[in-house]
Amino acid sequence: MSAQASRVVASAPAPPGLPRVLAGLDPAGPLSLDRHLGLHGELPGPPSGLDLQGLVAELDRAGLRGRGGAAFPAGAKLRAVARSGRQPVVVVNAIEAEPASSKDRLLLQRLPHLVLDGAQLAAQALGADQVIVCLAASARATAEGVQVAVDERARLFGGPRVSIAAVPDGYVSGEETALLGQLNGRPALPTLKPPYPAERGVGRRPALINNVETLAQVALIARHGASWFAELGTPAEAGSALVSLAGGVARPGVYEIEFGTDVDALIAAAGGATVGIRAVLIGGYAGGWIDGQLRPALTLDDVSLAEHGASLAAGIVFALPDGACGVAETAHVASYLAAESAGQCGPCLYGLAAIAETVSLLARGEAPAGAPERLTRWVAQVAGRGACRHPDGAARFIASALRVFAPEFADHARHGPCEACPAPALLPTPGSGRQTTGARA
Ligand SMILES: Cc1cc2nc3c(=O)[nH]c(=O)nc-3n(C[C@H](O)[C@H](O)[C@H](O)COP(=O)(O)O)c2cc1C
Ligand code: SF4
Repeated sequence: MSAQASRVVASAPAPPGLPRVLAGLDPAGPLSLDRHLGLHGELPGPPSGLDLQGLVAELDRAGLRGRGGAAFPAGAKLRAVARSGRQPVVVVNAIEAEPASSKDRLLLQRLPHLVLDGAQLAAQALGADQVIVCLAASARATAEGVQVAVDERARLFGGPRVSIAAVPDGYVSGEETALLGQLNGRPALPTLKPPYPAERGVGRRPALINNVETLAQVALIARHGASWFAELGTPAEAGSALVSLAGGVARPGVYEIEFGTDVDALIAAAGGATVGIRAVLIGGYAGGWIDGQLRPALTLDDVSLAEHGASLAAGIVFALPDGACGVAETAHVASYLAAESAGQCGPCLYGLAAIAETVSLLARGEAPAGAPERLTRWVAQVAGRGACRHPDGAARFIASALRVFAPEFADHARHGPCEACPAPALLPTPGSGRQTTGARA
């Protein structure tokens, strides 16, 4: 064991298996601070626990990568913020912009102290005196619950001041520079990087921006260490992850899995598939479709998923049942993604709109000849052409649909809408009433 690892302090036993992050989950209400500390032990940190170097070393050894979608190494981000040499602000990205995701909301509503522990530990390590929890403006009930947890902690701990900021709802509002725009009194729109948040964040201060689940994992690694973290997962990707599972399964909800779990095992844990599965969408609307026939060989880790052009990203798995129309579902989401462009970059604003329109025409059987080929070309042209990664994600989603649903696209082009087309879309978008709910440890 390394010198740093021996400094990890935990006053409660480490969970031997799963659940880890979802341990103590009570569907009836939030875990109080007393019960949280009873379950996980006291908050470690200086002078008895990890300092900055110790925390960075544990995160590096654990190989923890961000759970907000980009999978950036958590230790490297902490190190970059510390390198700025100025007092930073810690920002909790709780926007959860992906409509099919519900893990962050679940954590903040039921297990807020684990997330706030992670934010507090990061703030302590960096010498930050301020934590800002950024929530979508519509998430009022979650904000009230977080405030109760913050007040509970203020009575017990000193530490950084924790405030809650409401950010306008929107798919790109969760992008980190959009968050910072809002916190700096500008519109919540993405800006070009550099400067990175670790250089210029809130005011003139650098910002550490992490996703809700990332910080919950930080709180566990700080208590129990990287070796414990790596008891689950694969050699390439240690630990556990939260997955928002929906679609054609008996019990949709949020599940905690270890990396490397078979997709079929996850679906079995959710009571099994309700009918056959035509395709699985992994990673949300910036992710990719994978043919349902490949499921037996499919495991939830980025090495396996990369072979299919996908990644677990923010942990979304959607099982599209046989009988649903992959073309109509793709058209529905493509229109949503195009409408969510922040409208600042030409390829994103005009490219996504043209792509969405063509997918819709294809779904209706009204597209001119050569439309699928044109779509494939356009999709390649928008990727990497925006100030943020919104067009890249949308392009990945649509390119995977063109691949996986190629026979259906060809049928729609020849014969027009299929029998399933008139049914309401299964993939959720805001206002569609199909957001994933429920939690399963
Ligand atoms: C269009 C877009 C939307 C995003 N929405 C979210 C979001 O809702 N929540 C989130 O944590 N990260 C979101 N991200 C990623 C953030 O920019 C950032 O990478 C993340 O918050 C960093 O946290 P992590 O390193 O802990 O994952 C989004 C990125 C893009 C390009
Ligand atoms: S790429 Fe799109 S969403 Fe991102 S900043 Fe440009 S216009 Fe806005």
